[in-house]
Amino acid sequence: MSSHTYINDLKQQVGQTVTLKGWVSNKREGKGIVFIVLRDGTGYCQCVITQDNSGENNLNIAQSTALETSVIIQGSVHADEKQIGGVEVQVNQIEIVGGSIDYPIAKKEHGIEFLMDQRHLWLRSTRQWAIMKIRNTIIFSIHKYFQSQGFVQMDAPIFTGNACEGTSTLFETDFYGEPAYLSQSGQLYGEAMAMAMGKIYTFGPTFRAEKSKTRRHLSEFWMIEPEMAFYDIFQNMDTIEGMLQAVIKDVLAECSEELKTIGRDTSVLESSLKSFPRMTYDEAVSIIKGEKPVNGIYSIAMLEAELAQTEEKLKSIEAEIAEKESKLATPGLKKGEINFMTAKIIQLKQEKSDVEEDLRNIPQWLNSARNFEYGNDFGGSDETVLTKLFDSPVMVYDWPHEVKAFYLKRNPEDTRFARGVDVLAPEGYGEIVGGGERETNVENLVEKINEHQLPMEAFEWYLDLRRYGSVPHSGFGLGLERLVTWVCKLKHVRESIPFPRMYGRLKP
Ligand code: 4AD
Ligand code: MG
Repeated sequence: MSSHTYINDLKQQVGQTVTLKGWVSNKREGKGIVFIVLRDGTGYCQCVITQDNSGENNLNIAQSTALETSVIIQGSVHADEKQIGGVEVQVNQIEIVGGSIDYPIAKKEHGIEFLMDQRHLWLRSTRQWAIMKIRNTIIFSIHKYFQSQGFVQMDAPIFTGNACEGTSTLFETDFYGEPAYLSQSGQLYGEAMAMAMGKIYTFGPTFRAEKSKTRRHLSEFWMIEPEMAFYDIFQNMDTIEGMLQAVIKDVLAECSEELKTIGRDTSVLESSLKSFPRMTYDEAVSIIKGEKPVNGIYSIAMLEAELAQTEEKLKSIEAEIAEKESKLATPGLKKGEINFMTAKIIQLKQEKSDVEEDLRNIPQWLNSARNFEYGNDFGGSDETVLTKLFDSPVMVYDWPHEVKAFYLKRNPEDTRFARGVDVLAPEGYGEIVGGGERETNVENLVEKINEHQLPMEAFEWYLDLRRYGSVPHSGFGLGLERLVTWVCKLKHVRESIPFPRMYGRLKP
């Protein structure tokens, strides 16, 4: 095949004649003229086919294309700041590669289940494209960060003989007649490798049987798990912050168009470049319960004010919908006015449903704030209440040891607490990272393994790491999809991964 130009290189090709290969993502027609918005995976550009410049034959071909027809276009590149990408292509020749009849995804609103069933095609839409580009930037940025800091990437096994994160979420499979589990975490193997290499990180698929539908749980997701020899929990927190800020910087620098496409207000990403607040579990609980203010604001007062404001907002949206609907009913409106009004009503109804969701949630958050029981792990609402008071991720460390994993070290100064750290993203997102300093004492570990009723023989190799040259060490796990979801401010984690696997969803 002959070479061609990619759309994101067109700005350097003004005045040239180029060949583009891609798909028709949008088409408008007038008399003797067709406008095609072509997409090729690198970007979008408007291509103009006219009777006068392109000739009758090319005009006919252009008219015969439909949404998602694949085409090869030859034309000249003209600078035009008004157009997407700052250029427009005047077409000399258009050729169809593959036709597309009745493309199932129209420009109109579709329900989410329909779109999920069409995920193999939905990925072509502008919004999904932008999310996948941001995901790619995040992945590359994570590798760049760790590689530049001297970490060695390692691949942990997917078939495992033991649980790492509790036995309730294991996917069991058959390994030559022996039960095996799909990996819930590469951490234990990462610890072994850190004793060989110093600083390592895994980047691999992770499986958790989560038999409930939530907006943050997948059954298969990608986790990044660094593990560092001779690091304590505070050096661990420095690493988490360094990594997350490197990623945010790269996304802001490289994905400004994509962020704009998905309508992401970037102010919170920008404010996340200052150091993340660090607090103990005890401090976090006082903030959640409204006993301790953050910048003068108490959680309960904040939530009560938010509830009142949201109720007002609902009333004003309802009034606006009623007004627009009555206008729409007046006779003699022009087609343009009808279209405009109809689109506005759809948008207002979406806003209304978001506000109604808030009105269902805020009382739950208030309930969390008023009734949180000291000693419990944080649930989704507790995380929301806490993070609402901050404009960057926050780190919560030193958790009651009973609610955390068996492998965490106790705080030597106060053994009620385990040296775990969770990073909670703001804007209601909650946990994106979980990690901590590891227990190094064999007796303590044995006690914990028994307490968690885990089979000791499966952990003998793990105990060996403490028998031969044990050192203090720490690490963490970053959920890639949770990070993408927050960075893109998505409503649900299912849009952060090409083909989500979750309770109730195995296809396509
Ligand atoms: O907090 P978790 O369970 O921690 C671990 O697995 C540790 N072994 C990590 C370590 O210290 N090496 O999971 C880590 C992160 C969570 O913070 C979350 O971002 C993500 O993995 N995660 C999920 N993401 C999507 N769907 C799920 N079902 C997830 N479960 C955890
Ligand atoms: Mg966790």
